[in-house]
Amino acid sequence: MTLKEKKYDSPLQATITGILGLFKKQERVGELSVIDSLQGKKVLITGSSSGLGLAVAKQLAARDAEVIMAVRSGIPEKGEEVKRVSGKTNIHMLPVDLSDFDSIHHLVKAVKSKFGQIDILICNAAIVVSEARKTKEGLDEMFMVNYLAKFVLVNGLLKENCFNTDSNELPRIIFVSSESHRNPDEFEWDTFGEFKDHKMAKTVERYGYYKLLMTTFSQELSRRLNVGEKTSHSVFALCPGPVNSNIAREAPKMVQPLLKLVFKLFFSSPEKAAEPVVYLSASKDLEGKPTDYLFLMSRKEIDPKATAPENGKHLWEKTEKLLEKIK
Ligand SMILES: NC(=O)c1ccc[n+]([C@@H]2O[C@H](COP(=O)([O-])OP(=O)(O)OC[C@H]3O[C@@H](n4cnc5c(N)ncnc54)[C@H](OP(=O)(O)O)[C@@H]3O)[C@@H](O)[C@H]2O)c1
Repeated sequence: MTLKEKKYDSPLQATITGILGLFKKQERVGELSVIDSLQGKKVLITGSSSGLGLAVAKQLAARDAEVIMAVRSGIPEKGEEVKRVSGKTNIHMLPVDLSDFDSIHHLVKAVKSKFGQIDILICNAAIVVSEARKTKEGLDEMFMVNYLAKFVLVNGLLKENCFNTDSNELPRIIFVSSESHRNPDEFEWDTFGEFKDHKMAKTVERYGYYKLLMTTFSQELSRRLNVGEKTSHSVFALCPGPVNSNIAREAPKMVQPLLKLVFKLFFSSPEKAAEPVVYLSASKDLEGKPTDYLFLMSRKEIDPKATAPENGKHLWEKTEKLLEKIK
């Protein structure tokens, strides 16, 4: 038992922590002006059929980005919604199920063949499950969607040369994380990738652990892509704070009405919560930065467990070994 205060061990703790975070005084990182444009930029965003991702897609489209929505549902209606709300037509949709390796590989091929190269990738999709579920390979679905899929997608796009490195501006890879990445005491190296059965009460704890894995991956990715003085890709991460989205869709039916009320009253709307994602995508002030992390609109240090190079290296190697075993 550690003395560290655990703030994301249960759904209730996580909700209270999230709400309190919204009221803390923050120093804003900067502002985007209405004329900051993403004209000529191609943005791929996962999980853009709902909640935060959908709001981000609309705001990036409104800033003239060519938006590629990688979704498992909502084709074509969510794309039509983005067009209608943004008033722009340069919106595309590609299907993907991030719990399925073949589907991720198809997405990479489709990006390559249809769009050539992208300028910005936003890894946004995630799930909060009612209880642990297995993918067809026997992996924990939340581990797969919230962490492993990102490793496979990003490395697939890199391998296929899908990031535009010929522009004056660096490509950006953005991970939607969560402050809950700070919650775990340690990495579970000995059981890495193994399925762990759990019920709803433990879901938030597991969610925080997978956010730690994803955030650690983001830091290692930045180190591997940006060696020495030379920066080739910006790798950013953020926590949007509590968002009134569909993230708790698997919560028990009995508590749904109460949850919906709490989300509506206290959580940020997806439109408001999109601000740090849009800022990390469009801000010229961040040009050339190898990495950055925002909590809401303030800059914050990532948890030291996630920034430690030995953890990043270990995670990368463990993940490669796991993928090798699955093949
Ligand atoms: N809501 C919060 O309070 C909060 C707080 C901190 C961080 N976040 C993070 O914000 C991000 C967006 O979540 P949200 O709150 O907007 O939740 P959401 O409304 O549930 O959106 C999640 C998105 O992920 C997609 N997705 C889930 N599983 C998928 C799969 N197997 N393949 C492809 N897409 C899949 C969903 O697609 P479908 O519509 O097809 O299901 C949906 O578009 C997540 O990374 C989440 O961890 C949220």
